[in-house]
Amino acid sequence: MSATGIRAIDAPADEHALERLLAEQIAYYRARAPEYERYAIPGWHGDELVSALDCFRPAGHVLELACGTGVWTEQLARHARSLTAIDAAPEMLAIARARAGGERVRFLEADIFSWKPDRRYDVVAFAFWLSHVPPERFESFWRLVTACLRPGGRVFFIDDTHRTPDELLDGESGSTVRRRLNDGSVRRIVKVAHSPERLERMLAKLGWQVRITQTSEPFFWGEGRFAPAHG
Ligand SMILES: C[S@@+](CC[C@H](N)C(=O)[O-])C[C@H]1O[C@@H](n2cnc3c(N)ncnc32)[C@H](O)[C@@H]1O
Repeated sequence: MSATGIRAIDAPADEHALERLLAEQIAYYRARAPEYERYAIPGWHGDELVSALDCFRPAGHVLELACGTGVWTEQLARHARSLTAIDAAPEMLAIARARAGGERVRFLEADIFSWKPDRRYDVVAFAFWLSHVPPERFESFWRLVTACLRPGGRVFFIDDTHRTPDELLDGESGSTVRRRLNDGSVRRIVKVAHSPERLERMLAKLGWQVRITQTSEPFFWGEGRFAPAHG
């Protein structure tokens, strides 16, 4: 059993199966990039989330993980002194660059599950990404966030729990769903429906003090810092 107490009951049988699923997830988003805007958040209760981000004030040197088409890159850039935004899909990055590019913004094409930071940041932010991190990679993902932050640095994230019954491949407790592209083809991706209360507890077990706020269903946002108890 891991520190968070997560038992990945829906885990693909082996690491290769998980790698294939994560590759399929990237393939889905690469193909989805030109269609993605229609599903992006502002316009979908985005104001509440933008207000939450503004109150958080992501100042200083900011890292955005899984920036997608740059909807949140643009919002982060209003506050940040410098901004590094990473995503595995070059098609997403091309749209993000056109939207939010500028002297203070650096875009990197990288797979979050193998990427190593080349510096530390004041803030690490990610929107609609955590739910795509499989349970088996939850702890290592948060270790990466810790490695990206300077001491005392802060994290901010936004996510949702939206999944339709017909897309669940392993039932309600599972985390693999199928998504259809506009051409009718289907890909598997990870979509974990985190309960905010449980997520706070899981993060506390990893040494994070994070406060999660539910906004209009199915959205929530979280902010906090890595502050493990001593002793
Ligand atoms: C749901 S979208 C969120 C995009 C953006 N943050 C937003 O809120 O609009 C998920 C993003 O994760 C990216 N992604 C998927 N797997 C990834 C990986 N292994 N490493 C980096 N980015 C990945 C996708 O390309 C996609 O842009």
